[in-house]
Amino acid sequence: MSSPLVRFWDDRAADYDSAGIESAECYWRHTATNVLLTRCEVGETDVILDLGCGTGNVAKTLAAHVKRVVGLDISPKMLDRAQQDAPSNVEFRKGDLRRPPHVLGLTHITACYALTALTTTERRALWDQAWRMLKPGGMMVVADLFWTVPPEQVEADFFEADWMQSVSATDEMEFLERDGRFRVLLEPLHPLVSVLTAARL
Ligand SMILES: C[S@@+](CC[C@H](N)C(=O)[O-])C[C@H]1O[C@@H](n2cnc3c(N)ncnc32)[C@H](O)[C@@H]1O
Repeated sequence: MSSPLVRFWDDRAADYDSAGIESAECYWRHTATNVLLTRCEVGETDVILDLGCGTGNVAKTLAAHVKRVVGLDISPKMLDRAQQDAPSNVEFRKGDLRRPPHVLGLTHITACYALTALTTTERRALWDQAWRMLKPGGMMVVADLFWTVPPEQVEADFFEADWMQSVSATDEMEFLERDGRFRVLLEPLHPLVSVLTAARL
């Protein structure tokens, strides 16, 4: 019996890539994806872990420029889609991003719209794991529903499911930067959508 989270994403797999930019949610997700891709600063020896890879758009795009990409997702149906036309240097794995796998030679972690179901405790445990998984000079780029204006003050219907968390971008930035762990660039794209580019110090 699969969990509600897996069922939620399995049910969306078939139509996920055909959703255009007609809804504001899709428009900002596509925009955030493009910004995330340009912030990654990858080279041909880099190894990327893409958390919540979905149908593999970020993983497959970055694969053309790096040594290896591991895409991790909890939804078998999203992963079935991801496997289609996957380049040979991309490996898609089923797993929970709250327990990320060890990836040899890891240089970058990406997560695009994948963390909205995590509680604050889980998300911050993930930031701590990311710091341990990356070496100094490594990079984490995360695009998500991180608000810079409190959601109750914004007219937008982005929170599709009641389990989606409301996350303050500046709170996350401060958490990541504590004790000199990461240096973070915060880019608000919309009052409810931000990209965090975190350089591992
Ligand atoms: C909105 S989609 C984003 C997919 C992809 N990153 C993109 O930008 O197109 C969210 C994805 O995160 C995955 N996901 C959500 N929670 C997860 C978890 N705890 N572990 C692994 N994957 C998860 C879902 O299965 C889904 O494929």
